[in-house]
Amino acid sequence: MSQQTLILLKPDAVQRRLVGELLTRFERKGLRLAGLKLVQAPRELAEKHYAVHKGKPFYESLLSFLTSGPTVAMVLEGREAVAVCRNLMGLTDGAKSIPGTIRGDYAISVQNNLVHGSDSPENATTEIGLWFTPAELVKFDIVD
Ligand code: CMP
Repeated sequence: MSQQTLILLKPDAVQRRLVGELLTRFERKGLRLAGLKLVQAPRELAEKHYAVHKGKPFYESLLSFLTSGPTVAMVLEGREAVAVCRNLMGLTDGAKSIPGTIRGDYAISVQNNLVHGSDSPENATTEIGLWFTPAELVKFDIVD
């Protein structure tokens, strides 16, 4: 069955001109774009998106990072999209992420790790609702 996930190409990805290359990796795997836009995230959106990290030592820095420039927000769709995307992205810490993954190939930082992907289907639904209105998403009649 088809699943949706929220993927962010964070401000470091945009600043490093990696948007096309990273989007290609997700598309090449077979994921469908159901939503796509460039967003200058306001602080309130960053706070909601990273609410689970409130109180952690890196929280304020993380909010500054996510609001520091435009982010490419997308909804990707396909079989097991949440897990498939997390496998493509690699571990949170770029330094520990194995080559062949996005972070393993392009990131060495734990904060500036280029991409965000929802960690469960439930969180995907919540996060998609934060970044997109229903009218901004297309509906496919496809059985994966
Ligand atoms: P993301 O997958 O978007 O989820 C939470 C983000 O917090 C993570 O990617 C990193 O950008 C950041 N993060 C996680 N752990 C740390 C850490 N120890 N220090 C700084 N930033 C972190």
